[in-house]
Amino acid sequence: MTTQNNEIFLKAESFLKVCYQELEMIEKLEDRLEEVKNEIQQSGTYYHTNDELTHGARMAWRNSNRCVGRLYWKTLKVIDARHLTDEDDIFKAMEHHIEYAFNNGRIRSTITVFRQKMPNEKEGPRILNQQLIHFAGHLEEDGSIIGDPAEVEYTKWCKQQGHVFENTPFDVLPHGIQWPGKEQKIKTCKLPKDIIIPITHPDYDWFNDLGLFWYAVPIISEMMLEIGGIFYTAAPFNGWYMGTEIGSRNFGDAHRYNMLPVIANKIGLDTKNDNSLWKDRAILELNRAVLHSFEKAGFPMSSHHESSEQFIQFEESEQRRGRDVTADWIWIAPPMSTSSLKVFHKYYDNTIVTPNYFYQDAVIGKPKPVLSYDCPFHRKSLEH
Ligand code: ARG
Repeated sequence: MTTQNNEIFLKAESFLKVCYQELEMIEKLEDRLEEVKNEIQQSGTYYHTNDELTHGARMAWRNSNRCVGRLYWKTLKVIDARHLTDEDDIFKAMEHHIEYAFNNGRIRSTITVFRQKMPNEKEGPRILNQQLIHFAGHLEEDGSIIGDPAEVEYTKWCKQQGHVFENTPFDVLPHGIQWPGKEQKIKTCKLPKDIIIPITHPDYDWFNDLGLFWYAVPIISEMMLEIGGIFYTAAPFNGWYMGTEIGSRNFGDAHRYNMLPVIANKIGLDTKNDNSLWKDRAILELNRAVLHSFEKAGFPMSSHHESSEQFIQFEESEQRRGRDVTADWIWIAPPMSTSSLKVFHKYYDNTIVTPNYFYQDAVIGKPKPVLSYDCPFHRKSLEH
């Protein structure tokens, strides 16, 4: 075996051992390893069975150090789309993911796995969007941005492809793909009715005039799933939202929708004096509005209190099964009222275990700042 083949086989072996043990199929392991070894020797790669793919994707969720919602890792629905080659079918599969995951508001944690990156390919198949639903960021001539500043680069690309936007702060982005050996392609997938909701406040009427919206399901489509030495570079996945992701970060961050000054001014707080805690009050009201609006729409959303409790349950359930939990504290501690939550008062081991989901360099726009993830496609970020 060449060194490269041997490397893949070793990774395959260590994954398959755990996978077959957990699936209580250990008696099939030896034959399967033999088969995989031959496949790698002949073709330089191997293909997961449906069981391996399903369990591997679930293990990858279980191993996601930054995810606070991992208690439900076993419920992940895995859609095998590895056979698709036609671009229209690929877009259809993305559209199907959105509809299936949304499920008329009864959100299902779901991943759609497209074909793996082949060893001779420099770049595997890629979805160009950060998430399957996200809002555009329009960079104006005066340097201001209408919409989500996180999407300025991708929005520019869409315009270059001829896409025409309405130019509101909440224009849904069209979908882009780049499959090996083919041109980049853009298409606007259909969204289910009601998947985007207005954000309103339980007490403040003026809040409703701000014209804020958000969508029900975050479907990450820029990350790579690695299972047993195989790289799935296009594998969009979703869970459901924790309120602070939207209330504190997407709306609150100064480099995103930057709503804290707007909210504080509307409430009539002293924004000249940080000690008036105007930012804290604004974060609180934004988060109340987000939780209230999702509740009103009937969409599942966890509060940071629920999520933290669930994470502690996840740790306990993993311990009972004799597995160590790894976690990235900086991400597990929610961006609001952190010290009131149990997770704040704990330490976590941030070792990266595979299978896992990794960042990969963006096709469009700047690479993501990645600090601690050792991703084979992101070595640059490790050279501080
Ligand atoms: N934080 C991202 C956002 O606000 C979504 C990340 C995934 N979140 C989740 N709950 N599964 O859109």
